[in-house]
Amino acid sequence: MSKHTIVTMPGDGIGRVVMDEAIRVLDAAGFDAEYVHGDIGWEFWCSEGNALPERTIELLKKHRVGLFGAITSKPKEEAASELSPGLKDKGYVYASPIVSMRQMFDLDICIRPCRTYRGNPLNFIRRGPQGEIEEPEVNVVIFRQNTEGLYCGVEWSHPEGIVYDALNSHPNFRKNFGKVPKEEIAVSTRIFTKRATERILRAAFEYADKNGFKSVTLCEKPNVIRETSGMMYRMARDMQKEYNHIQLWNTNIDAQMMWLTKNPEDYGVIVAGNMFGDIVSDGFAGLIGGLGFACSANIGGSVAVFEPTHGSAPKYADYPVSIVNPIAMIESACLMLEYLGEQMISEKIKKAIAEVIFEGNVRTYDMMKMKGSPDALKHGAASTREMGGEIVKKVTSDK
Ligand code: NAI
Ligand code: MG
Repeated sequence: MSKHTIVTMPGDGIGRVVMDEAIRVLDAAGFDAEYVHGDIGWEFWCSEGNALPERTIELLKKHRVGLFGAITSKPKEEAASELSPGLKDKGYVYASPIVSMRQMFDLDICIRPCRTYRGNPLNFIRRGPQGEIEEPEVNVVIFRQNTEGLYCGVEWSHPEGIVYDALNSHPNFRKNFGKVPKEEIAVSTRIFTKRATERILRAAFEYADKNGFKSVTLCEKPNVIRETSGMMYRMARDMQKEYNHIQLWNTNIDAQMMWLTKNPEDYGVIVAGNMFGDIVSDGFAGLIGGLGFACSANIGGSVAVFEPTHGSAPKYADYPVSIVNPIAMIESACLMLEYLGEQMISEKIKKAIAEVIFEGNVRTYDMMKMKGSPDALKHGAASTREMGGEIVKKVTSDK
């Protein structure tokens, strides 16, 4: 019997091809696991009216660790029109399976590391004081609250009745919106709870402590969003007292995006609510190579799901030979290994990735700054499988 059981959910489009490469690398590195396949994505919305079928939920409940590729989502009208004829007009409403999964299993802690690989031609560079070129080394780990805030789906267009009355009970609402017709109002709420805020802050401080980071940066906007960001800031200040060797820095999301390119090397662990965490993590991902390098972990109390942050990239999905970069998916598998206590295997794979990037002999189209097209392969770009194969080769030659 294998030591671990992993639910693999390749999903749609390029999710499938990058998943294959991740499993190949995990096998080559000696990860002792059995993989059980979980259905997820557009195909199941169209055929069953549910992009996250109950049987997949059961698999996750049972095995508790998932590796996820990517899914395709489409707007409401398009989703309804693609339902199979027998399901049309039966009241099915499309919900993103990844958002559903995060909420269903309370995967409230999202971890997104962004680390520079030496030799990656996509690394951010800037000019120094004498005009010299500087390539700052980024080593940032973003902790994003994953289930609350602006993405929790508590929203209304044309609020009426008790919802409108509740809004109207706030003096700022009366002052700014009191005369606006109800039908012209849309509201999306930003709700933070103490429990979830405490959990994401704790996860960030604990990670900083265990991994030798000197600072935790809270990236919110407490000077303006006083109740939610303000609560998070006060709680972070209190928590920092338990970690007096770690500094707490407080940045506003807007200023942070400007500092991103000025001094990214100064930041270590960053913690934020759902939306600002999403924004700041894409910002840092851009400095280290973009979507082909952006990995993530979604961790809850008992279930965890690991996924690249990119989507299904439909325009590349049907290439006879896939050209996309599998590194984000393979790195997400490394985060899974670390969660499972398999640090040595993860280190081995990360070392292999670092070597492949540093040597630069095998590079996918994005790393060559090419436009994605099947011709990229003719112009020297490696295919997804060649990149996976090169990492496998390094992993297996590692003594
Ligand atoms: P996307 O991430 O799929 O692709 C955007 C662009 O980034 C691609 O066209 C490609 O140029 C590049 N790219 C993405 N992954 C890459 C890789 N591994 N290697 C090289 N280049 C890569 O985002 P897009 O086009 O906005 O969305 C496509 C579909 O994916 C939509 O249906 C969207 O809803 C869904 N999506 C799903 C996500 C998930 O499953 N977690 C996350 C983001 C989008
Ligand atoms: Mg995002």
